[in-house]
Amino acid sequence: MRMMACMLLTAACLLAEEPRFTPDNQMLRPEGYREWVFVGSSLGMSYNEGAASSSRKQDYHVVFLEPKAWREYQKTGKFPEGTVLMMEVYSAGQRESINRAGSFADKFLRVEAAVKDSKRFDGAWAYFDFGGPAAEGGLKERSTAFAKERCWACHNEHAETDNVFTQFYPRLGAR
Ligand code: HEC
Repeated sequence: MRMMACMLLTAACLLAEEPRFTPDNQMLRPEGYREWVFVGSSLGMSYNEGAASSSRKQDYHVVFLEPKAWREYQKTGKFPEGTVLMMEVYSAGQRESINRAGSFADKFLRVEAAVKDSKRFDGAWAYFDFGGPAAEGGLKERSTAFAKERCWACHNEHAETDNVFTQFYPRLGAR
């Protein structure tokens, strides 16, 4: 019924997707997230001291925000309950075709999610890993939330807006 109403209303409505969970709070991977709003990308971003000096391969991160939450954030500057952000990781490709300098987002490696649901998760936000072609077990349909100290703690301490790293997503309107 909701779907019907959506189809009759707007195309944007079609892209909206509520987060879905199993009864034991595993998150199901959202299907249409590649059609969500692109909010930012980074190259070679690492969160460990000393990483800058290492010769580690640089990956691209690409972040998408579910469209209903995007609109709400534009209006209020707040992330509503049910907000989902998906972060894809790509290898940096070089020297293909006519490319001689620089790099491009090449192979899709894996995808992670951040979800705001204060009824379900202590601390409101929960973090998930859905694997990908580069991960053991491939791309996963469902994922169990990480323990708070693995992901939530850093996001809570360092992210600019309600656990989300808006300081790195100028498209969200912070700058
Ligand atoms: C030490 C700090 C730190 C830890 C620990 C951390 N992150 Fe992040 N995370 C970041 C930063 C910085 C960004 C900004 C975007 C980027 O990396 O390109 C980010 C962005 C994200 C995003 C995009 C949405 C957002 O909130 O900005 C997701 C999804 C995400 N991380 C998932 C995870 C998961 C899953 C874990 C745990 C396995 C995790 N993070 C652990 C620092 C951290």
